[in-house]
Amino acid sequence: MSHLTNKNIVLGVSGSIAAYKAPDIVRRLQDLGAEVRVILTQGGAQFITELSLQATSKNKVHDNLWDKEAELSMGHIELAKWADALLIAPASANTISNIAAGKACDLLSSVILASDCPILIAPAMNQQMYASISVQANLATLVQRDIQIINPEHGVQACGDIGEGRLPESDKIAKQVGLMFQSTKLSGKKVLITLGATIEAIDPVRYLSNHSSGKMGSALAEACIEAGAQVTLVAGNVSVELNQKAEIISATTAEKMHQSVMKNINGQDIFIACAAVSDYSIKNPENHKIKKSNQTLTIELTPTKDILKEVCKLDKKPICIGFAAETQNLLENAQNKLNNKGCDAIILNDVSNADLGFKSDENAVVFIDQKSNVKLAKNSKQKLGRKIIEIISEKFL
Ligand code: C5P
Repeated sequence: MSHLTNKNIVLGVSGSIAAYKAPDIVRRLQDLGAEVRVILTQGGAQFITELSLQATSKNKVHDNLWDKEAELSMGHIELAKWADALLIAPASANTISNIAAGKACDLLSSVILASDCPILIAPAMNQQMYASISVQANLATLVQRDIQIINPEHGVQACGDIGEGRLPESDKIAKQVGLMFQSTKLSGKKVLITLGATIEAIDPVRYLSNHSSGKMGSALAEACIEAGAQVTLVAGNVSVELNQKAEIISATTAEKMHQSVMKNINGQDIFIACAAVSDYSIKNPENHKIKKSNQTLTIELTPTKDILKEVCKLDKKPICIGFAAETQNLLENAQNKLNNKGCDAIILNDVSNADLGFKSDENAVVFIDQKSNVKLAKNSKQKLGRKIIEIISEKFL
């Protein structure tokens, strides 16, 4: 797994001769596992063609704030939300000035204003321009706003000058983007996550289950691994590939999931109950396939053990985070769940919306603890996973 696996990078290419290197930057980001979309400014288009960037990124290049069709398919706000990081390489003096002034005069500057993800800027220009008081003052403003600057290198420039202003090699830029996602927030911490759906057999052919795909749990696992945690996954039925850096324990019934969690919970710092555990199992599953008949068939169900509730009662309980998949009285039900189960936080998701939650790649949730409710707007499960882990580590560690 590379540093940028599952990461969406928006690459802004602005008007500098170094823009000819942009297709190579796209490739190096892809080598690290990133999905790349390019925004090409008017200036950038003087130095590199849209076609080269489309061919390498394998995505349509975004170049116009006022393009009606582009706004319909992926508008500037969606593009900003899609991005896990924004990289502007090369960043011209003009683009740097637009960002420092907070302008929304073109697509790139507007996307920057609309995004809440980390931003990296690789200035590239003539050495005299780079050294100018204005450019340096603008860069200082950007640093104050937590924008990361990839410093230009010293050497011979396209214009024949020698000095600072050359764009660093593409692989160096890509590595710098990758490093941004390496955090140590959970280093030394152990996290146990349940995920996916449980399956309760009725007979050897039929079963009782639910729509959970395991995508949210898998995204949380990725975020924990990225943050340096040692992760154990107790997985029910999932339809995603799980990160092999985690210890993966298969537990497809509620009973097996309960046993696996209780066996492994000792010494865990955080427990995230993300699995959709069946509330009931079949009292007497049949050994042979039940034959069809015209009679009413009654199947007796018996309640399963509430794993989360049990973990919350342990003497040395870890930080416990539960999920509440609700269809009505959302906040009220989630709040009750927080109190009933005795966990530290509940993550509420509205599963009545077919576009979100179960099976979907996106979700929108509310992080609820005893002190506050934090709304996390609709976004990819990967991004939400990272946000949730950030909140957990800020609030509880
Ligand atoms: O009570 P309810 O099933 O709605 O609670 C959902 C939360 O409790 C989820 O975090 C789920 O993983 C957890 N849970 C559990 N064991 C069960 C049922 C739910 O850990 N038997």
